[in-house]
Amino acid sequence: MKEFQVVLITGGAGYIGSHAVQEARNYGFEPVTYDNLSMGHRWAIQGEFVKGDLGDRPKLLKAFRKYQPAAVMHFASHTYVGESVTHPQKYYRDNLTNALNLFSVMLERKVSHFILSSTCAVYGDPVQVPIPEDHPRNPVNPYGDSKMMLEKILAWYDRAYGLRSTFLRYFNAAGADASGRLGEAHDPETHLIPLVLDSAMGRRKEITIFGQDYPTPDGTCIRDYIHVTDLAGAHFLALKLMMETGQSDFFNLGTGKGFSVREVITKAEEVTGKRIPVRMGPRRAGDPPELVAQSDKARAALGWQPRHSSLENILKTAWAWHRNYFGGKAKTSRRSTVRSRQ
Ligand SMILES: NC(=O)c1ccc[n+]([C@@H]2O[C@H](COP(=O)([O-])OP(=O)(O)OC[C@H]3O[C@@H](n4cnc5c(N)ncnc54)[C@H](O)[C@@H]3O)[C@@H](O)[C@H]2O)c1
Repeated sequence: MKEFQVVLITGGAGYIGSHAVQEARNYGFEPVTYDNLSMGHRWAIQGEFVKGDLGDRPKLLKAFRKYQPAAVMHFASHTYVGESVTHPQKYYRDNLTNALNLFSVMLERKVSHFILSSTCAVYGDPVQVPIPEDHPRNPVNPYGDSKMMLEKILAWYDRAYGLRSTFLRYFNAAGADASGRLGEAHDPETHLIPLVLDSAMGRRKEITIFGQDYPTPDGTCIRDYIHVTDLAGAHFLALKLMMETGQSDFFNLGTGKGFSVREVITKAEEVTGKRIPVRMGPRRAGDPPELVAQSDKARAALGWQPRHSSLENILKTAWAWHRNYFGGKAKTSRRSTVRSRQ
């Protein structure tokens, strides 16, 4: 019988974490979700599940004792860039102390492989695009700063305690699992594609484009969209590599190709067959014109190939899921603040 190694997945009831849970067995791992359901969803949970907060050390320790994970993938955190600027305490306190708590349990239980959900927000305003992994880290908000701090802490934990980690710096996660079972349902939603699809469904009156005078071909911001299933798969490839080499590492996860806000809206109109009303707004502070990954390192070292990440497939899978999930709720519009995702 095939032996599956257990991976504890914090935030496994959330958007990206639930897709990682879904992919785990394809790569020879058995997922166990640890989530407090503050933002995640019961419907997204598959397999073993512990409802718990990362601040609850006894519960975490109990889960480690019970499931004996070989590794941890850490998705659980606060994720709103704008909120991090107005409530930095929440981001530094929770994102850092919860992770430190998790590391202390890992050290106690001698679990020495860790994958961090990091972000292109660690780079801040890029001085070079596509952005390579050795681009200076210069975050411009507490969210990105808290992730960079975790990267720094982990580098020291590696040296001192042999805790190996891989930082995966995501660009814009998007799309939905092909089965239609999982998808993106943040509340409030801040990400462009679900908001565009809300407009296509009539759940929002219009989509606001913030800034049309950027130095890009059509004047709107350019982002690198990576399908969530491709993103999820990269975690297991990175874990396998780290287990083989015993080395910590870090990778960008993006396609290396960017699309402007206008291009996303045009493609969404094509995929959905609906007209998407647009309103022009002013630029927002802290939105760089272009965020695109240099993604060669992950392709070469992990043998990773984004297979699902054409803009068309991202929109098709997201639309299928969106219609199904929100179909019955078309009249209730959720809270939203449009921000580019990082
Ligand atoms: N979505 C993106 O495009 C993107 C881009 C870059 C980085 N990231 C990072 O990826 C990770 C996952 O993002 P997501 O979009 O899936 O977020 P999400 O909000 O959908 O999922 C986070 C999950 O963590 C859980 N959680 C939060 N705090 C917890 C705690 N204290 N204890 C236990 N569980 C807790 C929530 O209930 C939720 O299920 C985050 O760390 C985020 O910073 C996301």
